[in-house]
Amino acid sequence: SYTLRRAATGEEAVVEAGGSMLAVLRGLGAKVNASCEGGICGACEVRWVEGTPIHRDRVLSPERRKTHLMACVAQCASSHLVVEG
Ligand code: FES
Repeated sequence: SYTLRRAATGEEAVVEAGGSMLAVLRGLGAKVNASCEGGICGACEVRWVEGTPIHRDRVLSPERRKTHLMACVAQCASSHLVVEG
């Protein structure tokens, strides 16, 4: 598990191992679009600013992954992850 924080509000919530970052973000009030929920459509892109995301999508370029993730499939290798949005 890891702690997810919204940079916009400072609010945090725990994402259980294998859990959905998208669902937790929405639970924190973030308005994140989603469509495929399988890492292929690009709808749920979120900018991340701190931590070590594990990318499981098939849409982001290596360069884009340095600043963005797909919240429907991304996991996290660090204990904290901070995202915008
Ligand atoms: Fe399609 Fe996340 S909802 S990539």
